[in-house]
Amino acid sequence: MLNVGFIKLRHFSDGRGFLVPIELGSDIPFNVKRIYYIGAVDHDVIRGRHAHKALHQILICISGSVTVTLDNTIEKQEIVLDDPTIGLHIGPLVWREMAKFSVGAVLLVLASQHYDESDYLRSYEVFQGQARRLFGG
Ligand code: TYD
Repeated sequence: MLNVGFIKLRHFSDGRGFLVPIELGSDIPFNVKRIYYIGAVDHDVIRGRHAHKALHQILICISGSVTVTLDNTIEKQEIVLDDPTIGLHIGPLVWREMAKFSVGAVLLVLASQHYDESDYLRSYEVFQGQARRLFGG
């Protein structure tokens, strides 16, 4: 899917559990300026419901599972994140919804810019207009 990809993170797993290191500058394909995490989300709650104009993000479900629905107006894709060694890279102009959080699920997000409300597209119609200009369709 356009502007969407996966990153496989190295991990060290043994009888003591797993350890996943993330080295900024080499493991992540953009300069990370912000980190946040989302948790304690009830199973029937849908988060997100927006796209970004320029922001790049990597979503890693570090505990439990989360279903992410992505839409670039040409394609729609549902991805289950349930592996703490997989990063989902979402680029600009991709509508995202995060849902079906399992009990105790935690979603870690690495972002390329500081929080900036003016980078958000919160209206699906406005997003659709901009995405169609970029991706066609
Ligand atoms: P919101 O955009 O609703 O989160 P989601 O897309 O996961 O549904 O953000 C919730 C609140 O947190 C909102 O008031 C904005 C604030 N916020 C920050 O202050 N900094 C951040 O980096 C993010 C992502 C949100």
